[in-house]
Amino acid sequence: MLGLKLLTDPRWADIAESNLEEILTDHCWCEQKAATNAITLITYNSEHEDLVTAMTEIAIEEMQHFQMVHNIIKERGYTLGRERKDDYVGQLYKFSKKDGSRNECFIDKLLFAAMIEARSCERFRTLSQNIKDEELAKFYHELMVSEANHYTTFLKFAKKYTEKVDVDKRWKEWLEFEGELIQSYGNKEHIHG
Ligand SMILES: [Fe+2]
Ligand SMILES: [Fe+2]
Repeated sequence: MLGLKLLTDPRWADIAESNLEEILTDHCWCEQKAATNAITLITYNSEHEDLVTAMTEIAIEEMQHFQMVHNIIKERGYTLGRERKDDYVGQLYKFSKKDGSRNECFIDKLLFAAMIEARSCERFRTLSQNIKDEELAKFYHELMVSEANHYTTFLKFAKKYTEKVDVDKRWKEWLEFEGELIQSYGNKEHIHG
């Protein structure tokens, strides 16, 4: 799925469903971080009009996702907890290029975002197919579609704006790295846990 090397064990969905307040809190903050990331891409790459347009749409959509998750939290009588640390995303960030040219770093920021969208999409799919809660299963199916579109958008811009980076080759390196990394996860009620 989306080139990912390893699919999530469906038993992770049981762990997630065993603590809905926790998974929803973590998920809500994932959406906020995705919106923030899109805004940051606008801030540093304002010369690309089509990128700014697309990132504006993504930032709005991610905050709509935040609002949807927050509404579910409220309807169910839960409380949105403090922002959870996302160790998985921290490891991906470490892998991203920070010492290359401006263009190399920019392309890797787009691939970093595409990677998170791809795995989030896969995790939402795992939830939608395995949890017993029908409302949430339907909700996660809808979000899966939306995050798959974001994944495509980030990859498209990486290919459009690269100067010297071989995007297909670099994307393969990302998939290899992520395939190893994800093996340490899948045991916690967090979206990337
Ligand atoms: Fe989202
Ligand atoms: Fe997204």
